[in-house]
Amino acid sequence: MNVIIFVPIVSKFKRHLITAALPYANGPVHVGHLAGCYLPADIYVRYLRSKGEDVKFICGSDEHGVPITIKAKKEGITPQQVVDKYHGMMDASFKEFGISFDIYSRTSKKIHHETAAGFFKTLYDKGVFTEEVTEQYYDEKANQFLADRYITGTCPKCNNENAYGDQCEKCGSSLSPTELINPKSTLSGEKPVLKKTKNWFLPLDKMQPQISAYIESHKDWKSNVYGQCKSWLDQKLQPRAMTRDLDWGVKVPLKDAEGKVLYVWFDAPIGYISATKELLGDDWKKYWQDKESRLIHFIGKDNIVFHCIIFPAMLMAHGEYITPDNVPANEFLNLEGDKISTSRNWAVWLHEYLEEFKGKQDVLRYALCANAPEAKDNDFTWKDFQARNNNELVAILGNFVNRTLVLSEKYYGGKVPQADEYNKNDLYLLEELKKFPDKISASLDAFRLREALSELMNLARAGNKYLADNEPWKIAASDEKRVRSVMNISLQVCASLSVLMEPFLPFSAAKLGGMLNLKGLRWRDAERTDLLKAGHQLGTASLLYDKIEDEVIEAQVNKLHESKKMNATPSSILPQKAETSFDDFSKMDIRVGTILEAERVPKTDKLLKLKIDTGIDQRTVVSGIAADYKPEEIIGQKVAILVNLAPRKIKGIESQGMILMAENAEGKLAFVSPTRDINNGGLIK
Ligand code: 2FM
Ligand code: ZN
Repeated sequence: MNVIIFVPIVSKFKRHLITAALPYANGPVHVGHLAGCYLPADIYVRYLRSKGEDVKFICGSDEHGVPITIKAKKEGITPQQVVDKYHGMMDASFKEFGISFDIYSRTSKKIHHETAAGFFKTLYDKGVFTEEVTEQYYDEKANQFLADRYITGTCPKCNNENAYGDQCEKCGSSLSPTELINPKSTLSGEKPVLKKTKNWFLPLDKMQPQISAYIESHKDWKSNVYGQCKSWLDQKLQPRAMTRDLDWGVKVPLKDAEGKVLYVWFDAPIGYISATKELLGDDWKKYWQDKESRLIHFIGKDNIVFHCIIFPAMLMAHGEYITPDNVPANEFLNLEGDKISTSRNWAVWLHEYLEEFKGKQDVLRYALCANAPEAKDNDFTWKDFQARNNNELVAILGNFVNRTLVLSEKYYGGKVPQADEYNKNDLYLLEELKKFPDKISASLDAFRLREALSELMNLARAGNKYLADNEPWKIAASDEKRVRSVMNISLQVCASLSVLMEPFLPFSAAKLGGMLNLKGLRWRDAERTDLLKAGHQLGTASLLYDKIEDEVIEAQVNKLHESKKMNATPSSILPQKAETSFDDFSKMDIRVGTILEAERVPKTDKLLKLKIDTGIDQRTVVSGIAADYKPEEIIGQKVAILVNLAPRKIKGIESQGMILMAENAEGKLAFVSPTRDINNGGLIK
């Protein structure tokens, strides 16, 4: 006989501080972020809460660092405007998706600047840092030192010509800018020069033995995490600058540090501490400085070295802090076979999903967890999303719950029936039921969330099989006694499901709780087989999930490809045309007009016959836009029209002008139209 002993890993701690990587506030949240760390962290936290553990869940926006300044440059706004724009958006969409942070703060807050500067000062006063004057790349045209990300060049390891100063994304090597062959500043395109500057370094080389011992005491970490740490240690740690010559970030709190800020990877993890302070006031220390507290960082794999080596080294050097007990990092999620990319607009944006799939948060949570990139990179596809919904949520979980609730309503007016005797089948299912909380716990404790979710579905499968085997609907009239037992047991399974599904599917769990008229249950309760007493009045049954049709999925796939096209940086921007004179340009009479009528030109694919009010008159124009616009959708559209173009006959129709259209790399057309209300006839000059 196999004996499974479940060791409750978490119980030796008094409290838990769970963090999810602070996302850069330089763009909206997408499915890759969710699958990487926010969803796993949320599932884990909800599980701990359900077990009655003392837990705090911390996150916030990372508002410093080069990714923010790069975005600001790109959008032509200030870094502050960038973070203000995205922080609120991220906060709101996390909330709506059910990511249950206890706090979602931001690193631009005063409390964070003070905490990070204070932490730096403590290390400085303890003599932890080494001061080094080094030569850093400087852009003489832009008049500034260059952050690693502002330098590109050829990777010395794999010859990739587009490696960054800190990393080659092709071969994954981490680099220093001076290693790059043919370095170039991304600010001016010029070759940067080396210039002397003083910075403060964390002597990771000297700390190597301490850090090695720490990593070696955590062989239990996920193999991808432990493996990456080992490889860093094998390559020998190097001192790392904790300050930078930049003007965006937390000012270095020293007299001789004008124009310098803390390295973003020094300040960002301290963001976890400042957010805890903001949340708890003086109580923050318990979570960070008491040995009985457990610190866990959920992150994506690109953050491993910072959370497993650099941040622990900072905490050790400080001396008053606990170190992370676990750092469950996920690999990356791709999308429809391609890397998720904000700049190429190859992403499923959370705020858009929430808008377009109202009330379906749990479907995305389910699809992302079932397909989470836990051990290797994985792919999100809309087809898989549909299949997970239709074949699993609807067909297994929803079906079981719905059949049980609807039959209970029909047979007993929604009152839980009294079970009579249990037969062998009943006893088997009830015994199985009792094992599920521990089984799912074992997977969750080991951060195997996919496995945990699949166990949860096994319970729903067992329920479905039980109903199918016993077919209460067939014996409802002939064997009422038996049906009462079957329905009672099925309802108990639903009750356990409502508890065990909460971490994964919180919205559906709440809905099911309402249907069962049950509240306030904890994880352990799920092993009970008498959660619903005979006579207990149930709520009203309604569907937990509904089918997602092919058209909905096709529309999403099309949208993805369309938006990628619209945002594609054309690889072939046409060269500038030959110079023209102002006089020549002024000869063109371009006006604002409005499309009054539109119809297809018969026997053509591309042409529309338009009637346009030009302010001067109403005239006919034949335009080649039928592939991009349907006649009915452009009535009332404001356009720019060249009115003094010599008339010409097109397909037998006299065209009296030309409307101006913008064209992208794929030949897709869009109207050029005034962004304010300008009357027809208004001159465009
Ligand atoms: O990779 C990122 O998005 C970083 N902003 C993560 C920071 S995590 C922590 F250190 F705050
Ligand atoms: Zn390389």
